[in-house]
Amino acid sequence: MKGQSDGPVIRATGISKQFGETVAVDGVSFEVSRGETYGLLGPNGAGKTTTMRMVSGLSPLTAGELTVAGIDVSRQAREVRNILGVVTQEDGLDTDLDAKSNLTTYGFIAGLSRKEAEKRADAVLMFFDLTDKADGEIDYLSGGMKRRLAIARAFMTNPQVIVLDEPTTGLDPQGRNRVWQELDTMKQAGVTILMSTHYMDEATALCDRLAIMHHGKILAEGAPDEVVNRHAGPEVAQVRVSNGVRQDVVGWIEGAGFDYREAGAIITVTSRNGERPDLSGLEGVRVSYRSSNLEDVFLAMAGRKLTDE
Ligand SMILES: Nc1ncnc2c1ncn2[C@@H]1O[C@H](COP(=O)(O)OP(=O)(O)OP(=O)(O)O)[C@@H](O)[C@H]1O
Ligand SMILES: [Mg+2]
Repeated sequence: MKGQSDGPVIRATGISKQFGETVAVDGVSFEVSRGETYGLLGPNGAGKTTTMRMVSGLSPLTAGELTVAGIDVSRQAREVRNILGVVTQEDGLDTDLDAKSNLTTYGFIAGLSRKEAEKRADAVLMFFDLTDKADGEIDYLSGGMKRRLAIARAFMTNPQVIVLDEPTTGLDPQGRNRVWQELDTMKQAGVTILMSTHYMDEATALCDRLAIMHHGKILAEGAPDEVVNRHAGPEVAQVRVSNGVRQDVVGWIEGAGFDYREAGAIITVTSRNGERPDLSGLEGVRVSYRSSNLEDVFLAMAGRKLTDE
């Protein structure tokens, strides 16, 4: 592969992106090794798409340094675009073309001959189980099929690095499962994957390492289980409350210095020292414990961060 080097495939050092007054990405650094799947997690507006667009050579950096396969994205954005497969948050399919022509056209633009593009499109359609939709109009495909076609398109050129912005948003469980399998197959083939997701189970299942982003910064980074253990501890407590006692319970939890979040009748409590939160002093409510997950990390960290401001 052109520009290939032994170092990390993606190396971002202090990259920032400013849109007028808005700092969308604020001095972010991360590295992704060859064959690794790296996830970006964070709420709406965290800066995930902006980061991925910079990595993809689609949006110039305001500051920082960024290389993909050893190529400097700031100086050679076009070369970077040629070696990447990109799946954007919007599908970006051409509704004037049928499904297969969306793939072949993408292939021509990427430099394949007509014959190569045809052959590759057939293979990719089969792999993504879309062969019977080859002649279908885009507008008549379901949302999930469009999403799969958009992902399929990124594989027209056999990329070694693929950037996927929320690949499974809007898919039903079966569609998500299929995409997971497809990504796993890519991963087995040694493809380096940078992806974003709002689904914590997806991040846990697919990512070797991930970064939790908030307000354009990386708050936490590491393997999913590491991040969970480090920031949420092994277990969180869940307290079931009725409205009558809610205020008293929240007051007690705050007084004890725990982080918590409320969702319906359940208050989830995390401790800051990585240990199981001790709620034995809390009387008259039902407390249960469960294993922590990425959701707990994110909500605890983002919650804490928001209240710091
Ligand atoms: N082209 C643009 N012009 C101005 N502001 C932008 C532009 N693109 C993104 N932003 C702003 O940058 C910030 C980060 O947006 P970004 O799309 O990167 O977030 P995200 O993490 O992908 O969110 P989501 O989960 O909703 O997709 C937001 O405040 C957004 O409004
Ligand atoms: Mg986005």
